[in-house]
Amino acid sequence: MRLEFYDAERRFTLCRLKQYMKQEADILTRAQAGEERYSGNLGWLHVDEWAGEEKLREIETCAGRVREDGEILVVIGIGGSNQAARAVVEALSCGGPMKILYAGNNVSSQYMKQLLKQLEGKSVYVNVIAKNFETLEPGIGFRILRQYLKERNGTGYERRVFATGTRGSRLHELCRIYGYTFLDFPENIGGRYSGLCNVGLFPAAVAGMDIRAMAAGAGDMERELRNTKGEENTAFQYAAIRSLLYQEGFRVEMLASFEPRLQYFYGWWTQLFAESEGKQGKGLYPTAVKYSEDLHSIGQFVQEGTPILFETFLDIEEQGDAVSVEADEVEDGFDYLNGSSLADISRAAFEATVKAHSERLPCIRIRIDELNEYSFGQLFYFFEFACYLSGKLLGVNPFDQPGVENYKGYMFEALGKYKYRSESNGEN
Ligand code: PA5
Repeated sequence: MRLEFYDAERRFTLCRLKQYMKQEADILTRAQAGEERYSGNLGWLHVDEWAGEEKLREIETCAGRVREDGEILVVIGIGGSNQAARAVVEALSCGGPMKILYAGNNVSSQYMKQLLKQLEGKSVYVNVIAKNFETLEPGIGFRILRQYLKERNGTGYERRVFATGTRGSRLHELCRIYGYTFLDFPENIGGRYSGLCNVGLFPAAVAGMDIRAMAAGAGDMERELRNTKGEENTAFQYAAIRSLLYQEGFRVEMLASFEPRLQYFYGWWTQLFAESEGKQGKGLYPTAVKYSEDLHSIGQFVQEGTPILFETFLDIEEQGDAVSVEADEVEDGFDYLNGSSLADISRAAFEATVKAHSERLPCIRIRIDELNEYSFGQLFYFFEFACYLSGKLLGVNPFDQPGVENYKGYMFEALGKYKYRSESNGEN
């Protein structure tokens, strides 16, 4: 993975960037070692802790049980509990025998009705993923799907339930009582950092992804980022550039690529930075665009709108087997493309976009060889480590999310949760 920075207006010089990295070098050194104050949140920092050989074997064994006779796995989870797995599965699955569907990430009855319809006549398994099992959406999703499984399969439905939660949680207890298979949600990993443990790896393995390659990609990235010093460290370069741009007044970072298969990766990345950095009235607003389509809409804003954003391009260099545009007897005006592959055309569009956009706004380019399980592992680790550094440069805790609690109080009040609790405790 390589990083480049373009800034036609030279908002800051390379010299200033180097100076800034030197000045903040201690942040990198402490993050590389893993700080004591965050030890309860750094389970992802050493990939082997939750994605080492033994853990991978356990995951593969459990996934094998589902793949034996399963046709659909419903992943029930929200936010960090489903985004990493979904990013990989939706990008790399090529329609094998096992289908992955998602529930517990919204409260739409129409969505649920359509989902249940897709399950008809199929051999269904569920994987409910919830760190403390108090979140509303997965709670509802699990109840509805559990009832569905019970109704369809009778006793014995329990073998179809895999629950990923923390030890001692209510979900853990339900596994003990009803015989569901329990998988650890590491206590020392927050949802949005959980791609390389049971949370992300189990659904990915069920979908037929090569989770060993994911772990290898993340592990190699760990070795690189935890051992490379100062200004040579790409995650530190990325974090420092973002930080300086923020200091220059930029408020939006827009992730961009020409690869539509990254659609759910965008969701993962957006959550990672929004929830980790957006606090104390600070932080870059993360958003994402899918080019080339969005060049025909957002592209206008980028080129001429309010100058609040900078762009981070993910450049996937190898496109694999390419489809070509062949000559045709119909004179449609596109003969200048005869013989070109879509990969060539995409490359030309990519370079043209970087050129045009970087004339106006700062652009970062992150080069990735190709899109596969290995590179997803690299990407997850790279951005997680960069997010840790970024949070520290910004002066916020990158591992908490106090702001997401506020609306819940109002919602639980409206739904009668507190009243129910006190009535059932006999406190009324
Ligand atoms: O990153 C996080 O910690 C959050 O986005 C959580 O993943 C999300 O809120 C879901 O939490 P839980 O797994 O407890 O249902």
